[in-house]
Amino acid sequence: MPEADKGKESAKNFHLDKPQKTPGFFLKGSASLDWGMKDRLSRIFNPKTGKTVMLAIDHGYFQGPTTGLERVDVNILPLVPQADALMLTRGMLRTTIPPTSNTPIVIRASGGPSILKELSDEELAVDIEDAIRMNVSALAIQVFIGGKFETRSVHNMTRLVDMGNRYGIPVLAVTAVGQEMVRDAKYFRLACRICAELGAHIVKTYYVEDGFETITASCPVPIVMAGGKKQAPLDALTMAAKAVQEGASGVDMGRNIFQEEDPVAMIKAVRKVVHNKVKPKEALQYYEASKKKQGIGSSG
Ligand code: R5P
Repeated sequence: MPEADKGKESAKNFHLDKPQKTPGFFLKGSASLDWGMKDRLSRIFNPKTGKTVMLAIDHGYFQGPTTGLERVDVNILPLVPQADALMLTRGMLRTTIPPTSNTPIVIRASGGPSILKELSDEELAVDIEDAIRMNVSALAIQVFIGGKFETRSVHNMTRLVDMGNRYGIPVLAVTAVGQEMVRDAKYFRLACRICAELGAHIVKTYYVEDGFETITASCPVPIVMAGGKKQAPLDALTMAAKAVQEGASGVDMGRNIFQEEDPVAMIKAVRKVVHNKVKPKEALQYYEASKKKQGIGSSG
């Protein structure tokens, strides 16, 4: 027990001339959330820049050992210290990611069908207690607006939001687009807005050249840009730069990082663009120079 406070009353300083600070919160739409939720969001998004570079390696949950992810222990562990958050399954987390890394975890919380079946036929795939046990910073779920099992995937998300709200864990909704659907601003405005209206705390969506700023403007929570299929490094860096300029709060990229010739240099280049507003061409120069230093061949 501490000893009783025997300081003289006259020696105490209550700073009566200073009103108590009431700081806001740096992430859009998140000011009214509870302390634990804000703490977790502040681990994913850097409070200084307001942005995140999340690394997505959860592809195996429906497509098995994806190119670049055949051996997460070999290929991905060197990238982990560079990621603001790691998006992955609980199986890969527990088997392969050292808890000592302390990288914030965004856990894949939906699943069911493989690439051999209808992908929108998902269910919740992680119990909230297990998410707490893993000390995750967010829960991630696909939402298939316009998909065959649209209602179920939306309901999965709202149940996950209810569970997350109960324990202060944010939910990241991923707008999953069916092969046959048009990827345009009109579709993504619809999908992102539905996710946010129904409680998602973060939305992950694809970049579109025409009207991306209308998607971020009409979505009241932070949007992170999904990487999508592999492109030339300059194109991927340009896409990330434009997304951030047009209102995204960062990126959640997978293949455009881990399928690159030098994934560590690539994620560092993406960080420059997202956090430091470095021009894509300058970030590419950094990437090419890093590769050269390591004797890795030139890229397209
Ligand atoms: C969505 O289907 C999953 O989250 C993906 O595994 C991941 O988002 C894909 O990342 P990328 O398209 O950047 O490889």
